Amino acid sequence: MLFRQLLDPASNTYTYLLADERARDAVLIDPVFEQHSRDAALIRELGLRLIATLDTHCHADHVTGAWLMSKAFGSQIGLSPLYGAKNVDLPLSHGKVVRFGDESLEVRATPGHTDGCLSFVTADGGMVFTGDALLVRGAGRTDFQNGDAHKLFGSIKEQLFSLPDSCLVYPGHDYEGRTSSSIGEEREHNPRIGGGAREEDFVGYMENLGLPHPKQLAVALPANLRAGEPEDGRAPSAPSWGPVVTTYAGVWEISPEWVVSHQGELQVIDVRCAAEFDGELGHIDGARLLPLDELRARASEIKDDRPVIVVCQTGKRSAMGASILRKAGLTRVANLAGGMVRWRDLSRVR
Ligand SMILES: [Fe+2]
Repeated sequence: MLFRQLLDPASNTYTYLLADERARDAVLIDPVFEQHSRDAALIRELGLRLIATLDTHCHADHVTGAWLMSKAFGSQIGLSPLYGAKNVDLPLSHGKVVRFGDESLEVRATPGHTDGCLSFVTADGGMVFTGDALLVRGAGRTDFQNGDAHKLFGSIKEQLFSLPDSCLVYPGHDYEGRTSSSIGEEREHNPRIGGGAREEDFVGYMENLGLPHPKQLAVALPANLRAGEPEDGRAPSAPSWGPVVTTYAGVWEISPEWVVSHQGELQVIDVRCAAEFDGELGHIDGARLLPLDELRARASEIKDDRPVIVVCQTGKRSAMGASILRKAGLTRVANLAGGMVRWRDLSRVR
């Protein structure tokens, strides 16, 4: 199974991408709204078909990216029906099995942090995604959203600690840089519920955490009750000047096919050296030569009156070039995907 763990540093939320390597069908657990273009780029670059997003619960500290993913990929939106959230077309209840290719996840109800909290267990029992029920050396707070420390104690003991010791635990958050644990490890070392802790030990601990309310609560909860659909029903706007795609590497790219048909409205900056500019691959008509090692110092020579397309041989140096120009304050900048090599191949076809 293909597996990736992604982090939203602003909320310390983990998002998990799981896919069947052969069928390319994928699910995304706990996507974050602000990380949509990063996660969507990864899904596209790995050639995956996103079947569904699965939220472990209705979050109070960040807005889910579920709705944005459904708009981008037609994926289903999975959440517990207990919240009554809008846009959910894959209601997840205890015992349900979510299939993606030959892989699957079993849904286990693990209430206590909220009453609709779910954990997802892989078919081989090798991994469990616990949301905020069980954290690495911790457990999700139980002091709001119908939280209940007694219920959480039962959920962890019965639904999670009944998994094999070797089962890896992937939490919804971590604030100390810890990425995963195992059931055996948490059963022994979890300071709240490990080492034979009894219900009154756990409840006493949880009821005295004294945590401040999450900063995002007032924004996140209503948005998550719409599965992350913005209030006006519109996705955040992408650059309006052209079909710019952000890669997983964070590069703004544009296709040569689009550039060909809009050449008159653009300025092309070629960041190769002079010998390459006049060499075998030639250059784009009207392109201006500004070698990469001079670009930082000469960025102010480029006017912001037309979008800037940066080009090199294969699109690597120009990706750095585009990043330099963005840092210099130019807003409409994109890297020519595939550089002059792809440009030449395209002109052979034309
Ligand atoms: Fe939470």
